[in-house]
Amino acid sequence: MPVFLLLLCIPTLYAAQHDHSRRMPPSPLWRRSDVPPEGYFSPLDKGGSLLTQVPGTFPAGLGEPLNAIIVGSSDSDVLKDSETDGGLRNYFLSFGYSSECLGQHLGDDQGANLGDGHGYKNETAVIRWNYGDPQLGSCKETIEGGSHFRYWVQDGKDADSGAIFIAASYELPIAQHHDIVPNGYNLGRDWMIGNATGQSELIPTLDLTNTSTYSGQTTFNNYTYQTDVTYVAGLLANSSDGVNHYLSVAVDGRPAVDGLVAVMQVKIISRPASSAIRILSSQSLPLLYALVAFSSLVSLSL
Ligand SMILES: *[C@@H]1O[C@H](CO)[C@@H](O)[C@H](O)[C@H]1NC(C)=O
Ligand SMILES: *[C@@H]1O[C@H](CO)[C@@H](O)[C@H](O)[C@H]1NC(C)=O
Ligand SMILES: *[C@@H]1O[C@H](CO)[C@@H](O)[C@H](O)[C@H]1NC(C)=O
Ligand SMILES: *[C@@H]1O[C@H](CO)[C@@H](O)[C@H](O)[C@H]1NC(C)=O
Ligand SMILES: *[C@@H]1O[C@H](CO)[C@@H](O)[C@H](O)[C@H]1NC(C)=O
Repeated sequence: MPVFLLLLCIPTLYAAQHDHSRRMPPSPLWRRSDVPPEGYFSPLDKGGSLLTQVPGTFPAGLGEPLNAIIVGSSDSDVLKDSETDGGLRNYFLSFGYSSECLGQHLGDDQGANLGDGHGYKNETAVIRWNYGDPQLGSCKETIEGGSHFRYWVQDGKDADSGAIFIAASYELPIAQHHDIVPNGYNLGRDWMIGNATGQSELIPTLDLTNTSTYSGQTTFNNYTYQTDVTYVAGLLANSSDGVNHYLSVAVDGRPAVDGLVAVMQVKIISRPASSAIRILSSQSLPLLYALVAFSSLVSLSL
């Protein structure tokens, strides 16, 4: 088994070292203009759904709940799907979740329709609890099961908020076909939120209401994030209708999904010293050019 694990993980190490090729140009001045006050558009307003589409369910057509949202008014760096510059993948690492044992993408992609005009599109990626090991841990999650999530970006022309919609759950080991544990959607959401807000105790899933809030900080690679979470009702149904694995997930007479979505606002509150300088200079560079151009114009006309 350990050799198998290691083999599975070699591509991750390789990818981690070569991640810089995927780096996007820094654009700290850029902000989306049409982020609504909530930080996202309700997918329900434009024909979307808060349930994903899972291929090959029985009966057909079941889905998993989109039970967390990183709002589009979060820091723009956090909304970039990158491991560098404090981007989204670094944020996930800050609370113990890593990209898949890459490119060992296991299982079928799920689709989600965020009501942004893209219709159903496949998940951007699957992210797994890394058991304290950023490089190899997600391989362990793949085999032993645990907390994981998929995510999609709301960026189509009809609803371009930049918000990130997350379907979190807690799955059984691969030997049990990655079924979801009892109450595993609500628990998967809350263990993720508990970690993302640095809680020392579990979030009491059964006591949550539409007024519950959690806040806290996490750090990775010297980027420190502040995450403020509000639980919101009215997006997801408090129901088992159409929910994948509803028979085993719904327990004690409660529906499989409690109807709450964890809405996360994420800010970078400190950066490594070197990066702060780089951001500063990339921000002031256009200004510098403008000044030089202006002063040469002035000196020409004199
Ligand atoms: C979505 O992923 C599946 C594999 O899981 C693939 O067959 C399909 O072509 C993908 N759809 C799109 C639109 O990329
Ligand atoms: C963090 O996530 C792990 C794995 O899902 C879980 O065991 C742990 O309880 C979580 N911590 C909190 C505070 O929720
Ligand atoms: C929470 O739910 C209660 C009862 O359904 C409702 O009266 C209240 O307006 C809701 N509050 C918020 C902030 O949505
Ligand atoms: C969801 O519905 C169940 C009853 O089916 C109820 O006990 C529970 O309080 C509801 N949860 C929320 C968050 O409204
Ligand atoms: C990160 O912080 C540690 C300790 O505070 C420091 O030793 C290290 O040089 C920092 N790294 C960067 C890249 O700023």
